[in-house]
Amino acid sequence: MERLIIKLSTLILIVIAQGCYYDAENYLYPSNSACDSVKGVFSTEVKPLMDVSCKSCHSATAAATSGGAIILETYDQIKANNAKILSTINAATMPKGGAKLPVCDIRKIQRWFDNGMPNN
Ligand code: HEC
Repeated sequence: MERLIIKLSTLILIVIAQGCYYDAENYLYPSNSACDSVKGVFSTEVKPLMDVSCKSCHSATAAATSGGAIILETYDQIKANNAKILSTINAATMPKGGAKLPVCDIRKIQRWFDNGMPNN
């Protein structure tokens, strides 16, 4: 009987310990929790990112020759192309010729999109 109690309590302890481990968001979603501070604000997150990674080809002056005539400079232009922006950066076809954007950068645009693309 005593042995059974020891076995049972060991089992319960293991279950509890595993419960703690698997509930921890850090272990479940390592990339997401690293982006916890991302709010999806247009002026401070989305726009600066687009300027750095996309504007060289997608500015009003460059787009015709090097950006497939797609201009991604203003709020309206970025908003109008958002679905395509997300699909191309997730597929890493954009930035053209460059490395895939970091997870947290993609998340900035995704979160802005999920928030309803406010001009904030
Ligand atoms: C080196 C130049 C260059 C850079 C940098 C670049 N693009 Fe492009 N982009 C292009 C060209 C050229 C096209 C036209 C289609 C093609 O040739 O692939 C294009 C097309 C697109 C399209 C339209 C795709 C479609 O299916 O219609 C989107 C959306 C886009 N780019 C978004 C971005 C975003 C977002 C970034 C920054 C993360 C970016 N691009 C960076 C050159 C570039």
